[in-house]
Amino acid sequence: MPRLPQVRTIVSQMAPYVPGEQPAPGERVIKLNTNENPFPPSPRVLEAIHSVDGEHLRRYPSPQADAFRATAAAVHGVSADMILAGNGSDEILAIAVRTFLGPGDTLAYPDPTYSLYPVLAATCENRVVTVPWETGWELPVAALLATGARAIFFANPNAPTGTLVRPSRVRELALAFDGLLLVDEAYVDFADENCLALVHELPNVMICRTFSKGYSLAGLRFGYAIAAPALVAEMSKVKDSYNCDAIAILAAIAAIEDQAYARTTWRAVRAERSRLAGELGKRGWEVIPSQTNFVLATCPGGGAAALYRELKRQGILVRHFDKPGLADKLRITVGTAEQNDALLAALPG
Ligand SMILES: Cc1ncc(COP(=O)(O)O)c(C=O)c1O
Repeated sequence: MPRLPQVRTIVSQMAPYVPGEQPAPGERVIKLNTNENPFPPSPRVLEAIHSVDGEHLRRYPSPQADAFRATAAAVHGVSADMILAGNGSDEILAIAVRTFLGPGDTLAYPDPTYSLYPVLAATCENRVVTVPWETGWELPVAALLATGARAIFFANPNAPTGTLVRPSRVRELALAFDGLLLVDEAYVDFADENCLALVHELPNVMICRTFSKGYSLAGLRFGYAIAAPALVAEMSKVKDSYNCDAIAILAAIAAIEDQAYARTTWRAVRAERSRLAGELGKRGWEVIPSQTNFVLATCPGGGAAALYRELKRQGILVRHFDKPGLADKLRITVGTAEQNDALLAALPG
């Protein structure tokens, strides 16, 4: 009998990415743990999905999701060859790592941030150097440059802090850096500013966007990069041939075309975000001002882990990270007014 095949040492020793809990459909929980948009996607998305027929599914999809690229390019005022579509922005991040970072090359990022980055780096045998955020969650430009990294990733707005770095500061870093600066804008639709303009000026800046948050389509799996055509062309060589499926491409086009609908949900989330932050503040929580659809808040009197468990017992899921600097905090996704009220009512005091 053959033995179990040996996996690469780097994989057997690697800590996996731990996604937030996903209860089974139909389970009655208030789900404020994985930063989904609490509102449904545009009705046009469902119409697009219903329009799919057997012919769409019999054939392979467009390898580069060309129709999506054309639509997204028009929305963002860039050329279609500056867009790379992917199976969620997680796939875009993975393609970027595989394209730009070989074994031993350094990926640097400010910490804490999205905990997928080290996992992706490990699979490509990259060296990871993390740099603490400066006071006030400011971008540590000098320290990042001092790492000698080949690529710098950072989430803007950041997760799990919810904080935003001004585009002028990002530009400072990009101007002084020779490698790839990937700005992960997963939450940007809820923010006051974005870094899109930098891709026109600077060839080393890549913007990464997703449909999972701003367009209420986390279940669809669609994201994209915006960057100089030469970078997109190289990344296209690395991606799977048909990385976006035919249904997702149609749905993503419908979603991005309906800007008016999406913007209504962004406004509603932002309004609820300030209400939730204000109510938490009144109850003694220290809330980091957020530019996203979640808040990171310090539990008054400690006990964040116990409170996380108690909320879960009551059917309210939030996120607790048992990590230095985060263990006394909960990350709470902004829900609908009713969901936020239920959370507030369940808090002690
Ligand atoms: C900072 C950040 N980037 C990317 C992603 C992944 O998004 P997607 O669902 O498009 O893979 C997330 C998901 O939570 C995130 O927090």
